[in-house]
Amino acid sequence: MVSYKEIQASNALINDATAPHVAVFVGGTSGIGKFTVRALVSTGASVRIYLVGRKSSEERTHAFIQELYAINPKAEVIWTEGEVSLLAETKRVCQVIKSKESRVDLLFLTAGYAPFGTRRETAEGLEIAQSLEYYSRILFVLHLLPLLRVAEAPKVVSVLAGGLERATIELDDLDLKKPGNFGGFKAQVQYAAMNTTTLEKLANENPDVTFIHSWPGAVNTGNVRRGRDPNSIVAWLVWLTLEPLIGLFGFSEEECGQRHLFQSTSAAFGGRGVPWKGKFGVNSLEKEADGLFLVNNKCDCTPNAKVMGLLREQAQVKIWDHTQEVLRPYL
Ligand SMILES: NC(=O)c1ccc[n+]([C@@H]2O[C@H](COP(=O)([O-])OP(=O)(O)OC[C@H]3O[C@@H](n4cnc5c(N)ncnc54)[C@H](OP(=O)(O)O)[C@@H]3O)[C@@H](O)[C@H]2O)c1
Repeated sequence: MVSYKEIQASNALINDATAPHVAVFVGGTSGIGKFTVRALVSTGASVRIYLVGRKSSEERTHAFIQELYAINPKAEVIWTEGEVSLLAETKRVCQVIKSKESRVDLLFLTAGYAPFGTRRETAEGLEIAQSLEYYSRILFVLHLLPLLRVAEAPKVVSVLAGGLERATIELDDLDLKKPGNFGGFKAQVQYAAMNTTTLEKLANENPDVTFIHSWPGAVNTGNVRRGRDPNSIVAWLVWLTLEPLIGLFGFSEEECGQRHLFQSTSAAFGGRGVPWKGKFGVNSLEKEADGLFLVNNKCDCTPNAKVMGLLREQAQVKIWDHTQEVLRPYL
């Protein structure tokens, strides 16, 4: 475990020279993304942040941006409206960012929720949570890779379930469309494996960019309530039982933000970034090198070797081929 003290010490080294100068947060309007934006801005460093979010969150996000300016007048926060569950919108948002920037130092991806409830699809025919947690995230990476590659210590951080992959995924129905194939737990397993295998492939092909798939542990963001009918019995049970437990045993907003800022900036993962004197993390191939890092809530690397071996052998190519088919119209 990387102690909270070590994390705070590392984050205290973030300044104008070491900060990610241009950062794109997709999901920074709530929860873990928002806590990490606040932690980054609180370093006092000069940063430009693209805060991507949907129209319905615009008003409250403007209040958050005012809070950020009060914390750090050197920060520039650019509200970038987009309904990123739609791939056409994701492409449009990427084009906006590409028209303004020649480099991106940090791409931080948190949009999504566990889809416990009935299957709901976007107008493009994708299950909403799968689009948010997988397809849209990979599309952001593919569009912004040329800008990431030219940065000094570029990082892509996808927050979902790194290290918790299982080999039991639906290989012949990757989008869980067949009758009876969809379910909240099954979807989480499926989307986690799809994230890891594709991020690993992209990491191997782009050794100049550090990739992290993070599992944040329990953080009381209200995320467990999303994707359900708020008036259902299950939603009430979650509110009455699960949420207080997460509130009691989960990470505080502050520690969650600091831990994810550490992952986003420290050389502990891949050797680039804020200097690190502790033990270096190992990538998903169990090497102290570049690549994809599966990082848990304690900021330890959890390569999940046995399962990853199986996924690499049986699933990686299939997932990538299918992903290309889905994303092709939006590249
Ligand atoms: N919190 C945890 O304990 C935990 C544990 C393990 C994994 N995770 C996963 O980690 C990721 C981040 O978690 P979090 O707790 O930070 O999540 P969160 O606060 O519930 O939401 C993260 C972001 O997703 C966006 N979002 C949700 N539904 C959307 C929709 N239908 N269309 C567009 N955007 C939507 C939210 O936008 P708005 O602000 O506009 O609502 C927000 O910016 C999620 O994928 C979550 O499943 C979380």
